[in-house]
Amino acid sequence: KNKINIAIDGYSSCGKSTMAKQLAKEIGYMYIDSGAMYRAVSLYALRNGWMDNHSLDEDALRRQIPGIRITFRTNDKGVQETYLNGENVEKDIRTLEVSNGASRVSTLGFVRRELVRQQQELGKQKGVVMDGRDIGTVVFPDAELKLFLTAPPEVRAQRRFAEMQEKGDHSATYEDVLANVKERDLRDTTRAESPLRKAPDAIELDNSHVNIQEQFQWAVDMFHKTI
Ligand code: C5P
Repeated sequence: KNKINIAIDGYSSCGKSTMAKQLAKEIGYMYIDSGAMYRAVSLYALRNGWMDNHSLDEDALRRQIPGIRITFRTNDKGVQETYLNGENVEKDIRTLEVSNGASRVSTLGFVRRELVRQQQELGKQKGVVMDGRDIGTVVFPDAELKLFLTAPPEVRAQRRFAEMQEKGDHSATYEDVLANVKERDLRDTTRAESPLRKAPDAIELDNSHVNIQEQFQWAVDMFHKTI
């Protein structure tokens, strides 16, 4: 059978990447985490001192954006990791600071245009499961299967917080995480450039009361109904 592209969009911390990774593995497709690419740009801006809590040097970032190369490689445990100009930055891009920065740099049109171009390149051969905010609307508007995940901010913050506790990361309280989730939701849905929207032809799942296994099964069912 011919391969298709699968777009998975939704709010931050709602389990998109968990579902996308499991689905890609099950059906033998390539998983691409588009959020990791915005995170890598954020890390780059932070490291170069172009971004802090108060300001963002857009001109510096604009000049350097063509020189930022983001790639993915699977490690020996079968886990995909993100590389920035050849350096493994998988751990560095998962902090709250980088998350917040990613949601800021992702509002910039020149950042989006460059990353969308790279994402479309990766999807040319089909057989890609990509998760993000604008995959079904902008990156792959012709994707054969589009899924849209939702859950209330409190549910997402609770999951994210539990995950951090489990990893031994005690740098933030539940309230911090909730505030972060809400702030990113607001920025993602109100930005002028490719705001987070459910594509008209996307299938929505509110996963508040759905566990990871059930959500995975749902995605696999949707895939088999599509091909
Ligand atoms: O999905 P993740 O939380 O890793 O994404 C990090 C940030 O990048 C998000 O807060 C969002 O603002 C931005 N993003 C985006 N478009 C995408 C993927 C992520 O704007 N396709």
